[in-house]
Amino acid sequence: MKDFITEAKKILIGNRKDGYTLPTNNKLYPAQWNWDSGFIALGYSYFNLKFALEEIKTLLRGQWKDGMIPHILFHDLNTNYYPNHSVWACGNKIHSSGITQPPVLAIILKIILDKNKIKDKEISKIKNIIKKIKKYHEWFIKYRDPNNSGLVSILHPWESGYDNSPLWDEPMNKIKVEKNLKYKRGDNKVVNPKYRPLDIDYDRYVTIKNHLRKNKYNPKKLYNKSLFNVVDVGFNSIFLKANKDLIKLLKKFNLKYKDLQKYISHSENKIIKLYDKKKNNFINFDLKNKKKIRIPSITNYFVLFADLKDKKINNKIIKSLKKHNTKGKFFFSSVKPNHYKFEEKRYWRGPIWINCNWIIYQGLKNKDKNFAKKIKKKTIDLVKEKGFHEYYSYKTGEGFGANNFSWTASLFLDLMLER
Ligand code: DGY
Repeated sequence: MKDFITEAKKILIGNRKDGYTLPTNNKLYPAQWNWDSGFIALGYSYFNLKFALEEIKTLLRGQWKDGMIPHILFHDLNTNYYPNHSVWACGNKIHSSGITQPPVLAIILKIILDKNKIKDKEISKIKNIIKKIKKYHEWFIKYRDPNNSGLVSILHPWESGYDNSPLWDEPMNKIKVEKNLKYKRGDNKVVNPKYRPLDIDYDRYVTIKNHLRKNKYNPKKLYNKSLFNVVDVGFNSIFLKANKDLIKLLKKFNLKYKDLQKYISHSENKIIKLYDKKKNNFINFDLKNKKKIRIPSITNYFVLFADLKDKKINNKIIKSLKKHNTKGKFFFSSVKPNHYKFEEKRYWRGPIWINCNWIIYQGLKNKDKNFAKKIKKKTIDLVKEKGFHEYYSYKTGEGFGANNFSWTASLFLDLMLER
C-alpha cells in the first residue's frame, strides 16, 4: 500500500527553501505566502517542530512596522512571478506585497502549542511570536475597522485568499481599469488559463494594486480611499476565531489580553447581523458601494469555525451546509454547483479546496461530530485517490492548478495524524 503520510512529508520538504516553504514545487508561486505558511507550519509540526516554528518566524520577519503581515514575502527576487517585488515596491526587511491575507497564524500556533511541550528555554521565543501576532491583530482592528464596527474589511480580493470568487464580481465590475495598463501575467503560462482567473480580473487586481501603491500603502487613508472595500464573512470568521485563540495563548503565557476581549464580543454580535434569516445564509457587504453580496460561497460557512455562541444559528447553518453539495462523491465545491456563476474548473469559482474543507471540519467538530467525520473521510479519500493538488473538480475529483501543493499535504497530515 502506498504510504501517503511519507509522501505528504516529502512534498513539504521538497518545497522547503531557507526557513520557509513554497506553496508548490512548480513555478506558479515562487515566494512565501501568508496563509499558506500557516497551514504549512501545521503540517511540519507532525514531524519537525523546528521547521514548523521556523516557517512562522520567517513570515514574522517580514512584518511591517505598523503590524501588518504581508500576503507575500519575496525572498527570491529572481523569478517570473507577477506582480513581483519591484512592482509592489514595499516591505520591511524583506521585499513584500502591500496587502495581507486571512490571519490564520494564531489558530495554527495554538494547535501546535496544544500538542507540543515547549522547553523552558524556548518560552521567551514563543512569547515573542505571540506578541508579534498580537500586533498584527491590533493592526486589523485599528486600520481595517477604524470606526469600531466589529468587522474588518479587505481592500483587495487577493487579501481574501479566494481571489476570483464570484463574491467579488459586483464590486470588481465597478472598478475602472487603469488606462494604458501594461503588465505580463506569469501564472497562465504555468497553468492552463482555463483554470486561472480571467485577464479582466487581473486588469482590476493590478489597477487596485497600483492605486494602493500610489497611496504609499498608507493604512490610515486606504480604508476610505481604496477602490475595493468589502466586509467578508469568511475572512471575519477566521479573524474572530484567531482572536479567540490568541486570547488563550496570551493567557497561557501571562501576556495582556483584556483589550482584545472586548473586541471579540463586539465582533460576535456584529457578525450575526450578516445572517439572512429568510435565505438561511450569511451574506457579505460591499462597503465601497453599500451593497449586499449574496453568493453561495463555501467560505460563508467559515462562520462555523468562529464558534458563535448562538447555537440556533449554528444549527440552521449546518442544515444549509448539508444542501451545498454533500450528495455527490466529492465536496465541498467552493461555490454551490447550481448557482449560475459556478465553474467546475476555474480556481475559486467552483473547485474543491482542501483548506476550506479543513476549516469547516474544524468548525463542526464540536457541533456535529458525524458530519465532521464524514468531511474528514471525504477529504482524505479525495487526496488519496487523486493526489496532492491545488484544487479539485467536485464532479470527478480531478486535480487542477499546481501539484505537490504544500497546504494540501500539510492539512492531509493534520487530518491523518491529529489525536
Ligand atoms: C496568485 O498569484 O494567484 C495568488 O493567489 C495571489 O495571491
